[in-house]
Amino acid sequence: MQFPAQQQPDYPEPASVRYIQQQLQASPPLVPASEIQSLTGALKQVSDGQGFILQCGDCAEAFDQCREDVFSAWIDTVSQMTALLRCGLSQPVLKIGRIAGQYAKPRSSPDEVCNGISLPSYRGDIVNGHGFSVAERTPDPQRMLGAYHRAAVTLNALRNNSAGLSSESTATDSVFDPFYVSHEALLLPYDSALTRLNPADNQWYNGSAHTVWLGDRTSEPSQAHVEYLRGIANPVGIKCGPSMTAEKLGKLLQRLNPHNKPGKIMLIVRLGVAHIREKLPLLLQAVAGLNSPVIWLTDPMHGNTRSTVSGLKTRDFGTVCEEVRLFMQILRAQGVHPGGLHLEMTGRDVTECTGGLQKITDDDVGERYESLCDPRLNRSQSAELAGLTGQF
Ligand code: PEP
Ligand code: CO
Repeated sequence: MQFPAQQQPDYPEPASVRYIQQQLQASPPLVPASEIQSLTGALKQVSDGQGFILQCGDCAEAFDQCREDVFSAWIDTVSQMTALLRCGLSQPVLKIGRIAGQYAKPRSSPDEVCNGISLPSYRGDIVNGHGFSVAERTPDPQRMLGAYHRAAVTLNALRNNSAGLSSESTATDSVFDPFYVSHEALLLPYDSALTRLNPADNQWYNGSAHTVWLGDRTSEPSQAHVEYLRGIANPVGIKCGPSMTAEKLGKLLQRLNPHNKPGKIMLIVRLGVAHIREKLPLLLQAVAGLNSPVIWLTDPMHGNTRSTVSGLKTRDFGTVCEEVRLFMQILRAQGVHPGGLHLEMTGRDVTECTGGLQKITDDDVGERYESLCDPRLNRSQSAELAGLTGQF
């Protein structure tokens, strides 16, 4: 049966998509089922209130940023954030990157018009190129292989670097040590081609990441993305935006975690400061009425995007902090464990978001704007937010 799938590229030659999928199917998975199971174990602890998740990375990874200096800056920043959170919250911190696969983007419009010319929108380097030309914007399935190989290189960099980072952990939280990886389960031909049956437990695992999430624009319970996610054993995130209702959330939890397993579902709340006070209590109430264990994370980025006068997308550090603070306050007031942060950030010294200790202004935003999609916290803002979250 064919389920309607939102946000998929219009590939000019479906036969070549199938050919690339065959190559991916013949390639080894990027992460083994055993590591996915370790993540589930760690998430069970978080679900019991014993741990805090830091899920973070680029909005969209760019192929040309698959570089040693970019990775080491990212790893240093995440390590610093982890230390600050661990100290501030007195809890082990579980690191999940938006990395090694975060190459596909949902778009609000399938086409972009510039000087009267209409071309397909940029959907991330796994689909097409950012440059505004027919050649760049035509979706190219070969790019899925480019993504797969760069994801393998990225994972290798993470593994080489995390070896030196586990010294502070104790035996009981060793499942918290690795850098786990995640991305939005958006481009179905890629994720499904890397999904494998694990003979040991007879379950299907998405071998392209330890965990994947359901984006806000592809979350219709009866459609293809939910249908795909319901078949895999990986932990799954669900983005909850302002349009999420109690009824829809109930349906999604029923479909994605019918047996109410702990450590399976992360609800990633991205309401924005304008809606969180009103909407988060309704979502909490909806979940409280079910027997479904979930971990609550805050994504304080996607509900707080604004434009500068010159038209650049930005987010204000103070607003981002305020959403985190409100999230922690609202959950704690109801006796619910705040399970973590989901951030768009980089280890580089960019000027994409305003505010923070560097006092970046609207006028500064264009100076070092490297993101191809949404604005990210820079290194200093990321550390500052981790420090503040420990105090909230
Ligand atoms: C994202 O996390 O980059 C994203 C597109 O988020 P959302 O689906 O919440 O809009
Ligand atoms: Co984004």
